[in-house]
Amino acid sequence: MIIGKYPNLRLRRSRKNDWSRRLIQENSLSPSDFILPIFLIDGKNTKQSIKTMPEVYRYTIDKLGIIIDKAIKNKIPLVSLFPYTKNKIKNNLGTEALNEDNLVCKAIRYIKKRYKNQIGIMCDVALDPYTSHGHDGLLKSGYVINDETIEVLINQSLLQAEMGCDVLAPSDMMDGRIGRIRKALDKQNYQMVQILSYAVKYASNFYGPFRDAVGSRGLLKGNKKNYQMDFRNTNEAIREVALDIKEGADMVMVKPGMPYLDIIKTVKDNFKIPVLAYQVSGEYSIISNSIKNKIINENAVLESLIALKRAGANAIVSYYADRIDKLIK
Ligand code: PBG
Repeated sequence: MIIGKYPNLRLRRSRKNDWSRRLIQENSLSPSDFILPIFLIDGKNTKQSIKTMPEVYRYTIDKLGIIIDKAIKNKIPLVSLFPYTKNKIKNNLGTEALNEDNLVCKAIRYIKKRYKNQIGIMCDVALDPYTSHGHDGLLKSGYVINDETIEVLINQSLLQAEMGCDVLAPSDMMDGRIGRIRKALDKQNYQMVQILSYAVKYASNFYGPFRDAVGSRGLLKGNKKNYQMDFRNTNEAIREVALDIKEGADMVMVKPGMPYLDIIKTVKDNFKIPVLAYQVSGEYSIISNSIKNKIINENAVLESLIALKRAGANAIVSYYADRIDKLIK
């Protein structure tokens, strides 16, 4: 409702000075709003750049200190680990996911030993970094089979929990996995391990650079449309979130971010659960490369992140998280 009218009412009055703009600002960002994705690679003494993601790197375990120190200094609450797995280790069952000496397990042990509880660790629960076909689950006649895949995801979850993972993030959009994983965790005394469900994950064209980063782009046969959501749909997002809450999710994610602000808002308005947004690799690359090429200026980063908060995100997974102190200032 608008009370008064021009010329008595001038909305520009409160926009005139910086102090006043700050006073009336409705949204802001703090380091606590961020989750930092970290890419892992095998080997030693390496911080390796990723062609399609400027200023994002893959780290060997012995170099993880560089990025974890930075995250802690920036007061980021949580990091998310993603492995680049060599092709020769991948197979059609993704068995490397259950190897307690795989990159993710080694990284969890390293971080927990060195940093204790100074920072939380989140891990994806999905098979795509480990399968030779690049899909998130087991394939039967080219179709990702739901229930058989869950059995493997349960074991992957238990293994990661055993290593010390704080937040498990099933990211494959299979049916029924949150409930089964919660039950298995509780049975094994991991009641305090949280589950962040990628409840609303679209079959998006914005994941390309991530697939480069984890080395699955060239391998992926077909697409992920028979498990990830159709980007034409809204109501289905509500159903997905409702189910995952019922099954025991502690938080839910909407992914990608900026093209789905309406979905973030819809989920936020319909449920009283923390809603996270994932500013995915394609969004990151578009913004970063446009800044690099001087097409837009670097404040676009802040704008893109505030947009996610304004839409209702409690926190944001972003490849900018390690530089957030600079961005906020
Ligand atoms: C896979 C996974 C993907 C991302 C996070 N986990 C890609 C996919 O579904 O193919 C994408 C993240 C990004 O693009 O930044 N389970």
